[in-house]
Amino acid sequence: MTDAIDYARYDRIRPIRWTGDALELLDQRKLPFTVEYLACRTGDEVAAAIHALAVRGAPAIGIAAAWGVALAAREADAGSAAEAAVALEPAMQRLNAARPTAVNLAWALARMRAALLRAQAGDGSDWRDALEAEARAIETEDLAANHAMGILGASLIAPGSGVLTHCNTGSLATAGFGTALGVIRAGVAQGKVGKVFAGETRPWQQGARLTAWELMQDGIPATLIADSAAAHLMKTGAVQWVVVGADRICANGDVANKIGTYQLAIAARHHGAKFMVVAPSSTVDMDTASGESIEIEERDPTELFAIGGTRTVAEGVPAWNPVFDVTPAGLIDAIVTEKGIVERPDTASMRALFAA
Ligand code: MRU
Repeated sequence: MTDAIDYARYDRIRPIRWTGDALELLDQRKLPFTVEYLACRTGDEVAAAIHALAVRGAPAIGIAAAWGVALAAREADAGSAAEAAVALEPAMQRLNAARPTAVNLAWALARMRAALLRAQAGDGSDWRDALEAEARAIETEDLAANHAMGILGASLIAPGSGVLTHCNTGSLATAGFGTALGVIRAGVAQGKVGKVFAGETRPWQQGARLTAWELMQDGIPATLIADSAAAHLMKTGAVQWVVVGADRICANGDVANKIGTYQLAIAARHHGAKFMVVAPSSTVDMDTASGESIEIEERDPTELFAIGGTRTVAEGVPAWNPVFDVTPAGLIDAIVTEKGIVERPDTASMRALFAA
């Protein structure tokens, strides 16, 4: 089935490159006009790059953090895996603190700790090699999950459908291919998706600057809309599915994602469009009961004061800049993961697929 997708055509961008002694991150602050990789040589440089959004998107920050641990391991003054577990903890804490909302960051760090424990238990591996191998595995598994989700998500879409997406969930936000954008890519390749709309995603403009550019690389025509045009677009009947990614999916099916997602879900329900969330199981957090307890990142309000570096707001105006929101499970028609699809998610259906 996956043979139907020409991945060489639909997946050309790599946001994360491991060179052997550095982590190169496609600097997303400079896109779409400058394609430039930022070289990180320490764990703290990776943490700073995550915080500054040089690399962003839940799966991508998890992968980058894992490589950040591999870099920190090179600097660590430790003679054994047991000493490394202690020595690396401060660097892991700093990586974890780089952004609060996407659970993939903590998930990837937990995997790196587990890899160290296995090396400590004497599985015969060199602990620095073990950390590098684990980071590589996290990245490889994410790409495979995206391919699987693309096929699963596209199977829900009727031929010729119009799809609206939000933020950037493509190759730039993952190991490659993307989550929601992977479903759109697979849907386009299979003739399911007839028309793609991308919301610009104020204030950082992930949709306008990143998604529109990514889809152009594939030759997929996408129409950009202002975020405020979404309900009006749905009213025309042009959108059958809203397809988005996620930063954290709770045990009851509530979903944290880029600010503006919640209002899209409300508008979709009102206008009879379906709402699909696409995310790897690394984004599912069964330890968080509902969206009530998710920490929503608030960024510097100055992100709201300028467009393209030019100030557009009078001096002295206050602003509030939460960059994620929570969509309640009741507004979601399907959560698509590599493990399967949860339709009309609730605590019971989530537990059926994700109970440990
Ligand atoms: O602030 P960002 O750009 O990291 O936010 C990204 C999103 O909200 C994405 O929708 C989410 O991380 C899924 S990316 C596959």
